[in-house]
Amino acid sequence: MLDKIKQLIAEIESFVAATPEEVEQFRIRHLSKKGSIAALFDDFRNVPAEQKKDIGKALNDLKTVALAKVNELKESLCNTETGKTGIDLTLPGDVRKLGSRHPLSIVKNEILAIFNKLGFTISEGPEIEDDWHNFSALNFPEEHPARDMQDTFFLEKNPDIVLHTHTSSVQVRDMETHELPIRLVTPGRVFRNEAISARAHCIFHQIEALYIDENVSFADLKQTLTYFAKELFGPDTQIRLRPSYFPFTEPSAEMDVSCSLCHGEGCNVCKGTGWLEILGCGMVDPNVLELNGIDKNKYTGFALGMGIERITMLKYGIKDLRLFFENDIRFLEQFTTAI
Ligand code: DAH
Repeated sequence: MLDKIKQLIAEIESFVAATPEEVEQFRIRHLSKKGSIAALFDDFRNVPAEQKKDIGKALNDLKTVALAKVNELKESLCNTETGKTGIDLTLPGDVRKLGSRHPLSIVKNEILAIFNKLGFTISEGPEIEDDWHNFSALNFPEEHPARDMQDTFFLEKNPDIVLHTHTSSVQVRDMETHELPIRLVTPGRVFRNEAISARAHCIFHQIEALYIDENVSFADLKQTLTYFAKELFGPDTQIRLRPSYFPFTEPSAEMDVSCSLCHGEGCNVCKGTGWLEILGCGMVDPNVLELNGIDKNKYTGFALGMGIERITMLKYGIKDLRLFFENDIRFLEQFTTAI
């Protein structure tokens, strides 16, 4: 039997195959349940006890050699050119469709990257807030009509708890938890009780920036805004600041950028004005610094806040805000980006 095994090993080792079918036949001949090796294992029962050790080892070797041979043949045939394998290895692979980022994420990431370059780090805060963080600590007096500027969702059982109406609430948390100087940028989802339309939604996204240090001036704010606008909308972009009112900044302003579509000539997106309103900003009101335990005689700061939906609509010429929330693939797959 030992001779038979040795002979079979030699036969197997010298075997060559030209096609995958021949490999398969070879495998069946030797390695299937009814193959030559299985038959030898059957005969093993009748081997005298004193030979069992040698023959057992030889049988195992035989099986190992046969398995290795099959694998080797399969591999070498698959790596040869078409015809032998029946597979055209020069064909392109199956294209896998990658998902794309949501346009709001794309613009959010762009904005955050611009502020990161200016040394602002990201901070995030809770969406469910108390009255203090959303209003009082930001200098919104009790019963003041300024609270009506933001159609707030209150918790029915506890009107002290709200869904935050702006990312400015995170400024308060930042002032509580961060050492000065503070230079932070805050993306977040905010909520207002508004009827849903092409231009408004009850959920939308904002980005807030806050900078507090000694000697921060309005000139610093203006330069930051100019840099930001040029980075986001292109180097030719102009900005203009219009006086405005927010309870937490003094003075306050709204910033317009020159319309990136008509370059100031007037079109239907900028409603013929040549300007697009982008964000609110101002110097942090000394009352806010005081309310948050910061020495208003030593420190000054600026803050700004913007809606991501609005900027994304302007950047991509999107006319209906509801498209952002419907998640229709035909809409979403039009946006591709590196970040
Ligand atoms: N929180 C304001 C809003 O939601 C936006 C805003 C305006 C944020 C001026 C600011 C700011 O930080 O300085 O309408």
